[in-house]
Amino acid sequence: MILSGSASQSVATALADELDEPLAPVEYRTFPDGELLASAPGFENDRAVVVASTVSSDAHLELLQLQDAAREWGAEEVTTVLPYMGYARQDKPLAPGQAKEGSAPGYPVSARAVARAISTGTDRVLTVNPHEDAVCDFFDVPAEPVDAAGRLADPLPDDLIDPVFLSPDDGALVIAETVRDAYGRGATDYFEKKRLSGTEVEVTPSDTDVTGRDVVVTDDIIATGSTMSEAVSLLQQRDVGRVFVTCVHPMLARNARTKLARAGVEAVYGTDTVERAVSRVSVAPAVANAL
Ligand code: R5P
Repeated sequence: MILSGSASQSVATALADELDEPLAPVEYRTFPDGELLASAPGFENDRAVVVASTVSSDAHLELLQLQDAAREWGAEEVTTVLPYMGYARQDKPLAPGQAKEGSAPGYPVSARAVARAISTGTDRVLTVNPHEDAVCDFFDVPAEPVDAAGRLADPLPDDLIDPVFLSPDDGALVIAETVRDAYGRGATDYFEKKRLSGTEVEVTPSDTDVTGRDVVVTDDIIATGSTMSEAVSLLQQRDVGRVFVTCVHPMLARNARTKLARAGVEAVYGTDTVERAVSRVSVAPAVANAL
């Protein structure tokens, strides 16, 4: 039986369809003091799959409550699916003014802290395209990444002209390659990126000739949209064809969507790990395969 966090109802429903498993009747309440109660009063099953993208602190809390609710009903096996794992990018201590390396006494490794908490209520964890697969090592139970990036090729038009699948930094090149392979043709390339602050990045283009070519810029996540909009602006200065933007996790915080539009994107596509208007494809088949 599948228990869904309130922010993950689309992907949980798609997963239920894929697996032909029932959805538990889950309820979400907020008390006057702001405390939450996610419950599954009709749940009774040996096997629970809790599906919750931890897109906010509330979503983290709901996940812990649903894991506990499943145990209360006597589930012998609880699997946790994190379509999007919040705090995964904080996988090193982030002391102000310090590079993301080495130790920083007094600063948490937030990804490890949330992984430890999630581990207490589950036997196994699956997480879709985490920023780094190594984040799985932070869990105290078996945890594995699920690669759903290939689905990002689905909404792309069939008529891309001499396409380049580009990542805005070298870390996401593997995702660009996966999308290119799924699309079936095209080159891959990457830009260099230096992060200046939470909302500012400096992107240095490669010397690939993109004149008249359609470019698909691909990343694991669009958060503030700074990385993508910077990459798209650079492409627009180079007489590019159409520019499409795809990502696994369309967080699209604050003004990210309009930033991308102003930079000149043709379309933005993401998956349902984060429920947004651009969530055009589901990661459910990839998760179902891994379960
Ligand atoms: C970082 O390396 C990630 O792959 C993304 O490029 C980054 O987190 C996107 O963040 P933002 O949209 O805020 O630039």
